[in-house]
Parts: sequence; C-alpha cells; structure tokens
Amino acid sequence: MEKFILTIDEGTTSTRAIVVNKKCEIVSVDQAAFAQIFPQEGWVEQDAIEIWNAVRTTVTNSLNKAHLTLSQIEAIGITNQRETVVVWDKETGIPIYNAIVWQDKRTAKFCESFTQQEVDAIRDKTGLFINPYFSASKVKWILDNVEGAQKLANKGRLFFGTINTWLIYRLTAGEVFATDRTNACRTLLYNIQTNDWDQSLLDIFGIPKSMLPSLKSNSETYGYTFPGLVSKVDTHKVPITSSIGDQQAALFGQLAVNKGEAKVTYGTGCFILMNTASERVFSQHGLLTTVVSDYDGVIKYGIEGSVLVAGAAVQWLRDSLRLVYNELETEWYSGQVNDDRRVYVVPAFTGLGSPYWDNYARGAIFGLDRGTKREHIVRATLEAIAYQVNDVLEAMSKDMGKKFSSIKVDGGASNNRFLMQFQANISQTTIIKPQNVETTAMGATYLAGLATGFWKNLEEIKKHYVIALELKPTETEAQVAKKIKGWKAAVQRTFSWVL
Ligand code: G3P
Repeated sequence: MEKFILTIDEGTTSTRAIVVNKKCEIVSVDQAAFAQIFPQEGWVEQDAIEIWNAVRTTVTNSLNKAHLTLSQIEAIGITNQRETVVVWDKETGIPIYNAIVWQDKRTAKFCESFTQQEVDAIRDKTGLFINPYFSASKVKWILDNVEGAQKLANKGRLFFGTINTWLIYRLTAGEVFATDRTNACRTLLYNIQTNDWDQSLLDIFGIPKSMLPSLKSNSETYGYTFPGLVSKVDTHKVPITSSIGDQQAALFGQLAVNKGEAKVTYGTGCFILMNTASERVFSQHGLLTTVVSDYDGVIKYGIEGSVLVAGAAVQWLRDSLRLVYNELETEWYSGQVNDDRRVYVVPAFTGLGSPYWDNYARGAIFGLDRGTKREHIVRATLEAIAYQVNDVLEAMSKDMGKKFSSIKVDGGASNNRFLMQFQANISQTTIIKPQNVETTAMGATYLAGLATGFWKNLEEIKKHYVIALELKPTETEAQVAKKIKGWKAAVQRTFSWVL
C-alpha cells in the first residue's frame, strides 16, 4: 500500500493540510481561512477552537480529495504561526481567552518598562528582545486580565501553548502536552544557552512552570491521533512525528541546513532566516538569535529578521487604496514606469520590525509630485518589500562579516518576477526559487518522514529539490546605492510617529 505524509501548516490567516508522496510531490491540498478578531486598536486575536475545527476540516478534505484513508498516512507533521498564545483549562480542554496573535501590541507599554540591564540579561538568555511580539507578555496579560486566571494557574489547572502545542493536544485528545525548541525559543521563557525552560524568566513574567509543555525535538513521535479524527468509521491512529515553527520549517524545506545558508519567505510579512549551525550569533544589528532545528540529536541556531508588512502592503493597495484589482496586476503596473521619480512607500503600518524595532513608526509615501501616477505608487510598494528585506540582509552580512552570494526565496510574492529581479539588484545577490515553493509545509513534511524512515536521510530528499528560477543582478552596486540611500532617508522620517 502506498503511503503518504500529511502535514498541517497552520498559518496566521489560514490553515492548510497537505498530502505528500515519497517523491516529495504534493498530491492534495486543502485550505481554510479563519476569523481575525480586532477588539481594539493594536489587538489581534483568533478563536483557538475555530482554528482547531479548520484544521480538522482541512485534514479530512485533503484526504478525501486524494481518496485516502488514515491508514495510508505514515505520519503527520505540524508547522505553525509562532509566538501566538493559547491558554486553556486542562480539565475542560477549553481556552480561557481567545488566542492572542503574534502581531498583537497590547503589551507594548509593559515591555517598555524594563531597564536596559534587564533587557540585556534577557537577551543573553533568550536571543530575543523584550517585545510584545513574543509569547511571554501575552500569557502574563491573560493571567492578569482574565477573571480567576491567576488562581487557576497557581492551582496548576492552566496550560499554555503556542499553536503547535494546542493542535497536538487536540489531535491526541489531551494525551500529549508538548512543544519543540523552534517554537519554545520564541516565547521569551526558553534559555538558548541551556536549551530548556528558564525559571528566572518564568518568574519575571509570573508564569508557573506547570503551565509549560514538555520539550521534544523537531523529528520524533509526539503521540498518536485519537480514533475518529476524520470520521467515525476511520479509527486508525496516526503518529504525529514533527513539530516546527513555520519560518524554521521553511528554512529546512529549502534544505538550507548548513552554516551561512539563508531563505526569505515573502508572506503577509517577510521572514529572513540564516542558518548559523552550532554558533549562537548575537546580532549587533537588531536581529534575533533563534533555534532553527533540533534534528538527529543536533540543535542548530540561526539569526532572523522580521519585516512586519510585505504582502500586507499589496493587500493594502488592493483593498484600502483600491489601486489594483488583484496582486498580479502589481507586476504589470510596475513595468509601466521607471523609478526615476524616486517615490518611496514606507509601509510601517504596525511599526517597524528588524532591524529598526520601532513600535511607533507609521507608514508614509515620499517623493510625490504633480506627475506621480498610480503606477509609481504600486511600483514603490513592491520596491518597499525588497528594500525592507535588504535592510535585514545587510544587517546579517554585517553580523557575519560576509556578503550573501545567493538567497533562497519562497512564499506568495516570490512568484512576482519584478519583485524578485528588484531584490536581486538591490541586494546584489542571486535569487534562487525552488519549483516547489511550499517550503514551510515541506520542511515539516521532511521532518515527519525522516522520523519514521519514510525517507532514509536528507540526501534522499535533496534529489527532489528542483530550482525553478535563478535571477542574477542586472544593475551594478553603484547604480543601486543611490536608491538605497533614498529608502533609508524615507524610513528615518517615519520613526516614532505615534507618541
Ligand atoms: O513569527 C510569526 C510567523 O511565524 C508567522 O508566519 O507565515 O503565519 O505569517 P505566517
């Protein structure tokens, strides 16, 4: 009987289930969106039960589309939006509050209340900055603000998990409460020096250790699905054999497993991650130190930069400004004008991420004159995505003392050829895009399959990695230097706009 790996890719705006065969081909996909809840300015929530239902539906649909039963599934892999917090009552299995999403800024003031000394000490342990982006302050907020939560937590009744942990808990009907190190290291509660939860960090945020899941590697058996996951008659139990945060999964899916290899995922935001293998590099330029994989008994690290608004800027062009009808048009409009008018769009809608980390920056358009047209604004918006990525790549090069000869790309906007060529030019590097751009799902899939022997080793998987596009710079460093200077001046002017 032919077997398959089924991977759940639970992202920020939708969840997908993907079935992959032994040749690393995707045989079926199902996707479902879920509601984004914005109770106040800067707050972003999701209903964890709705996410779980969406996962269950997509798992069922993806199997049905491929005419498969659970017995044909060798293993399940999980990859997820990171940092997002779910807190639930372990007696009922019901969340006590909505999931607070990584984008949520409600704890900004609290995060600013730390002294520089405290910030530095926490950074040494976690590789992160104290920022509302990460999980810990959100868990604290729930304990402080949901009636009775602190009491329940002190009694050992509450569990905290990122989405992977929540899904594993649900998939195993409450049998398994666990996470992996790529997710744990984004909570501000995990020490990347000891590779364990850290009591002093828990104390800072007032979180009892009993709330935390146990730690496992990215590729091992977490547990088995409960009978009847997809229907009452299909009672087969499937092992869950991988769990990995989505950005680290994309790096693994790009097979960027060696030191110095990097990937850029162009999604709603952009995440740039470089593998630094056994070295924990503490950036001097606003990047995060993070665990990239825990596989085959080896924990590897990386540096990461996050651009908060990338694809979201194109959605803004479409839905708010209504300058384009769909994303595809952006490429066409951008080709209609050149950039001699030097229009810059800085899409700092929710502040700026790496390398600036300014929660109070806001977006702006610069360089407008009487001749500025829709085409210029569309083009400048796409260019802004590349400029922001370049800011992160520059910071990485400075930290590593070495320029990139190439970077691997994936995510929706990697299909935009104008953007990719502009990126190659601005960053003076070769852009490599694989044929299969589902790298996030593939990373978790590979790890799930490697755990069971579905694939023997990475060498076997590498044979299936096909490059679809390779773009080299078509402009010189001198030509792009002027453009980058203009961009940097524009970004500077958006700093601390909201005071
Ligand atoms: O750190 C947040 C990141 O994991 C979210 O990724 O692709 O769901 O937007 P994505």
